Amino acid sequence: MKISLPKNSILQSEAFTFGVATASFQIEGGVDSRQTCIWDTFCATPDKIRDASNGDVACNHLNLWQEDIALIASLGVDAYRFSIAWGRVLNQDGNINQQGVDFYIGILDELKRRNIKAFVTLYHWDLPQHIEDQGGWLNRDTAYIFKDYADKISQAFGDRVYSYATLNEPFCSSYLGYEAGIHAPGLMKKAYGRQSAHHLLLAHGLAMQVLQRNSPNSMNGIVLNFTPCYALTQNAADIQAAKQADDYFNQWYIKPIFDAAYPELLAALAPEDRPEIHDGDLEIISQPIDFLGVNFYTRAVYQADAEQGFVQVDLPGVPKTDIGWEIHPQAFTDLLVYLDQLYDLPPIFITENGAAMDDKCIDGRIDDFDRLSYYQHHLTAVDNAIVQGVNIQGYFAWSLMDNFEWAEGYLKRFGIVYVDYASQTRTIKASGHAYSDLIRSRAHLT
Ligand code: NOJ
Repeated sequence: MKISLPKNSILQSEAFTFGVATASFQIEGGVDSRQTCIWDTFCATPDKIRDASNGDVACNHLNLWQEDIALIASLGVDAYRFSIAWGRVLNQDGNINQQGVDFYIGILDELKRRNIKAFVTLYHWDLPQHIEDQGGWLNRDTAYIFKDYADKISQAFGDRVYSYATLNEPFCSSYLGYEAGIHAPGLMKKAYGRQSAHHLLLAHGLAMQVLQRNSPNSMNGIVLNFTPCYALTQNAADIQAAKQADDYFNQWYIKPIFDAAYPELLAALAPEDRPEIHDGDLEIISQPIDFLGVNFYTRAVYQADAEQGFVQVDLPGVPKTDIGWEIHPQAFTDLLVYLDQLYDLPPIFITENGAAMDDKCIDGRIDDFDRLSYYQHHLTAVDNAIVQGVNIQGYFAWSLMDNFEWAEGYLKRFGIVYVDYASQTRTIKASGHAYSDLIRSRAHLT
């Protein structure tokens, strides 16, 4: 089975960047050579991770990184998106941990040698625990500590980085981590969710200033996730509910960046839930970025609720991935067109898209045709958005390989490469072969 796109699609030109993505905590392991982070603590708390696992070894990428980069190169991708473990490159006193920095410099140099662009994310959720002990993202100081981290690391990496993203999915760090309690650090309060979101966005703005100074030639920006919100019915109340959910879960994180303002919903929050925002914060948050990273997996359907305003509805009988997320590629196109209408956007990179599937390795083969079909439809959705005028310049499959899927542990597999955790062998799945063939087929057109 193949992934095919229209012959004249811009995705078929060499100008479009294809990549694969991972994140430090999800693949590295090597817990002893870095600071403890909030996810180590969360994993050690009973009943937080579905299979009671942790990131101590994960995909053992810390030791297997050379083989992993060879694997990435074998796929023929143009770019590799990965994240830096804050607590691996800095010690608790805030000084550089040279061994940790050298680990990433090794990766960056090897990528350069193989002509693969490095897309580096500075924060993919592994906050050093000692910073959490001082309040974590509820503490305004954390934004400034992050700025210092961004400063030191971008100096240490020199000109090796093609693109920096400050944060990955601040929605997850703030809402899932501090409001819903599903992710580390596992706190549960609306006011905490909103306050941590503001400090994360402030951290982004402060770090952007530093990156533009230290690394002016890299493409610097942020990665946001979007789950477009649809109304269950066309009743005014349900439409309003979907709009509120969209403001709360999606626009909350993008509007401050492009419009220097939070959605109107802010004013409707109870006074005790409203974040503390200092004069000048929104100016810092809203400075120009070179690219917007968009992560998309699914959509959500909402209906009005007398108590909470909006409530999500689980639609029966619709196609879903193994993690229970509805498969809805049209929502991807619509989202991209909608964002393009709402904001004055820089170039977009799809920094994550992919699917968890219940893979079976049979006789050394993983025939994940369901995932392959997901990629087929979602790449077509990206192409459709481009045809409608949206400036999208790249696409990253999530993920290069199966890895630690946060609260789901190792139970959910998102890779285009299969990982046998017992032996740490990697096997390219049918989806990985198809993705690779698609990328390589571009050569025939140039
Ligand atoms: C988004 C996150 O950035 C990534 O870490 C996660 O594994 C995928 N979504 C799938 O849930």
